[in-house]
Amino acid sequence: MRKKVTVIGAGNVGANCALRIADKELADVVLLDIAEGIPQGKGLDIAQSGPVQGYDVSIVGTNDYADTANSDIVVITAGIARKPGMSRDDLLAINNDVVRSAAVSAIQHSPNAILILVTNPLDVMCWAAWQATGLPKNRVIGMAGVLDTARFKTFLGEALDVSVENISALVLGGHGDTMVPITRLTNVSGIPLSELLPAETIDAIVTRTQNGGAEIVKHLKTGSAYYAPSAATVEMVESILKDKKKVLPCCALLEGEYGINGLFFGVPVKLGASGIEKVYEVQLNDTEKAAMAKSAGAVQEMVDVLKAKA
Ligand code: NAI
Ligand code: 2OP
Repeated sequence: MRKKVTVIGAGNVGANCALRIADKELADVVLLDIAEGIPQGKGLDIAQSGPVQGYDVSIVGTNDYADTANSDIVVITAGIARKPGMSRDDLLAINNDVVRSAAVSAIQHSPNAILILVTNPLDVMCWAAWQATGLPKNRVIGMAGVLDTARFKTFLGEALDVSVENISALVLGGHGDTMVPITRLTNVSGIPLSELLPAETIDAIVTRTQNGGAEIVKHLKTGSAYYAPSAATVEMVESILKDKKKVLPCCALLEGEYGINGLFFGVPVKLGASGIEKVYEVQLNDTEKAAMAKSAGAVQEMVDVLKAKA
């Protein structure tokens, strides 16, 4: 029997997740949105690509959580996307309500599902979904680090004129402008980055990565990125469904790792059939530790806002 993935939110990120899952023939997909007609129309359109692209998975659009029953993975992209001039934090209150209710409804119908959160502000939405559902921590995972690392690798590949596939990099911390690209551990086929680029160029690429989402919002004007975000999400989906055990930077609940307790935060994890199978605690230097603490502080502030509201 084929696996089943529900994608909640049939907007730009959600629809592209559904399309990529179908293209890779990973699972049957249920695309759910609050807007009537949108998931149905997009689902039908993606299904009709099957004969051309060569996939047989089923893609169903719906407004009814009953159709999501017994999903293996639920990806939550529902919410409001960031507009120009709007910070990720502005999204907090609206998306908190959306994500909590989506997570609870989805888990009611798929009690064994693994949740992958995409909605911003990402780290806080993971916490909200975890709180609302009471799921074990291995089954609540946020997508941000894979995207942020992909942006970092893209900019490095351009600067070095080398294949992005040869770049090994890691962006940790919260999904915001305090994120922490670990340049010390970045290398090109084993050659340390510091031997390939001057420090000023590396610093400029770090800053561009930290503002990578805002750069795209500035171009698009009416929304935020979705091609790379959906690709990043589906890499996580694939690692779980195929039990590949990829080690990827993801947003995970920390309980003491990196000196952080009770926060969802971007760290390297092993993603397999049970979701997060291991959190890796990388040895960081003092500068990196300070950057992680600053980033955690930014996430904690938003969690505190939600706690105060509860
Ligand atoms: P979008 O506006 O294209 O789609 C959002 C969809 O959610 C809309 O179709 C809307 O009708 C639906 N929706 C709203 N409330 C809902 C509810 N209660 N139940 C079901 N569906 C509901 O936005 P886009 O571009 O797809 O982005 C989605 C979210 O993902 C945003 O919060 C955005 O900031 C975030 N994002 C996060 C990234 C990350 O790295 N974690 C990367 C890119 C986007
Ligand atoms: C991004 O980084 C908006 O969080 C989204 O593109």
